[in-house]
Amino acid sequence: MARCISNYGFLLGIVIVILFLWTIVAGDLRNRVSFWTGSKSKFPDFSHYENFTHTLSNEQFPTNGIDRRIIVIGDLHGMNESLTALLNRISFDTQKDVLIHLGDLTTKGPLQDSLAVLSFMESNQILGVRGNNDQEVLEWRAWMYWIVSQPGGREWLIEVDDHWSDYELALEKGDMSALDLPPSSMKKPDWGNKVPKGWKPLGDHYQVARAMSRSQYSYLRSLPLVLYAPVGHVFFVHAGLLAADPSRKPTHPKQPLSHWPLIKQRKHDIAAIQKAQGLALLSEIPQNQDPWVVQNLRSVRKKGKPTRSSNKGTPFSDLWNEIMSKCSGFHDSNARLGSVTRLTGYQESRLTHLPCYPSTVVYGHAAGRGLDVKRWSIGLDSGCGQGRRLSALVLDAKSFSSGAFSDHTFDFSSEATDRLHAEPLFPGAVQHHTFQTLPSATDSRIKFDHAGEARIISVKCH
Ligand SMILES: *[C@@H]1O[C@H](CO)[C@@H](O)[C@H](O)[C@H]1NC(C)=O
Ligand SMILES: *[C@@H]1O[C@H](CO)[C@@H](O)[C@H](O)[C@H]1NC(C)=O
Repeated sequence: MARCISNYGFLLGIVIVILFLWTIVAGDLRNRVSFWTGSKSKFPDFSHYENFTHTLSNEQFPTNGIDRRIIVIGDLHGMNESLTALLNRISFDTQKDVLIHLGDLTTKGPLQDSLAVLSFMESNQILGVRGNNDQEVLEWRAWMYWIVSQPGGREWLIEVDDHWSDYELALEKGDMSALDLPPSSMKKPDWGNKVPKGWKPLGDHYQVARAMSRSQYSYLRSLPLVLYAPVGHVFFVHAGLLAADPSRKPTHPKQPLSHWPLIKQRKHDIAAIQKAQGLALLSEIPQNQDPWVVQNLRSVRKKGKPTRSSNKGTPFSDLWNEIMSKCSGFHDSNARLGSVTRLTGYQESRLTHLPCYPSTVVYGHAAGRGLDVKRWSIGLDSGCGQGRRLSALVLDAKSFSSGAFSDHTFDFSSEATDRLHAEPLFPGAVQHHTFQTLPSATDSRIKFDHAGEARIISVKCH
């Protein structure tokens, strides 16, 4: 009897082991089947927006170094020679000068040139922001890591990658006989569930993604979408930022520039207040938290909808300048208490000035509009990728020379009690400094920050 039971136990054990193995195999099969044939693949997150904004320290953004400059450079699109020409033109010194790029480092030109630009930026650990093209490149690379981690993914990718161009050519000619290997996996619809919708495999972005080194990929991933330099009152972004949510009135209490920021200490420290408002501008205006907006924005359409179109709606830079020109400092009686001011409807209707100090936004992306300098915004993409010019904004100690308003402390008690209806401190809202004729004007001076001056230097691209 005991023997009998132990035999049953043995059989039972075998059955359990078989069931267990079968579950694993079948599970694996199911996974394979759903990966290769399922209509919906679940993709992991390829976007890597972990580092959305980065606030520059005083060391990263030196505003009072005697011979230290900050050089901001527009969209490069792999224009390696023009980059060299521009850096030579301004005698760039890697030891002393700080370089900041505005994104879109690669694509459009030859692959080798894109990689050369990327290599320069990565090996020198240049500060910068991520453009929409950099984003596409890094998402392809993240996808490549993912697909080779899938069962059979590596072999499939190698096959497709090596033979796709031949296959496509043959398909075009209608002659498949030339191909020794017409892979069954290369029918166009097959990309469908392996590549996210709307992605175009094997293009420029794919090629850069495939060819760049692991450390270049890490460099692109480390780039934030927005850089903020509180000491210089300046934001750097690839496409654009908004100074107010355009779907509300500028004086609405939810607008960060409509009231004092919530800071507990140092209520009389203008620099601290201004920094808190700058950070609030980034975190409280919903559009500025949308990666697509800051990497693609060109204009704002009716009802406040951001668009990448440059011929519909209002250029975002006009909206930015309109708000900044309303900034009349932190003097009004509402702000004196240092609390978050909520304006009543009556006050709001009479308010033409906002309790804030203006900041500058420096951006690229809008090659169509060319160099676009306004009082509080600088569009630096002058179309190098299209054979026009590559431009740099050159800032030095003179750019941040303290005017009356960049003092660190401000004695409210000695101020006039109600400045609500005073003249704006920063008149001339949308003052355009135009540079339409650039053939010889490679060096221009512009106003910068409250009372400073900056230079814009450009070289011709070939
Ligand atoms: C890129 O520019 C650097 C500096 O001028 C140069 O040494 C390098 O050869 C260039 N790379 C390519 C691919 O042209
Ligand atoms: C975020 O960006 C800054 C500036 O480019 C960089 O120094 C930092 O390492 C980045 N952080 C991460 C986690 O990538």
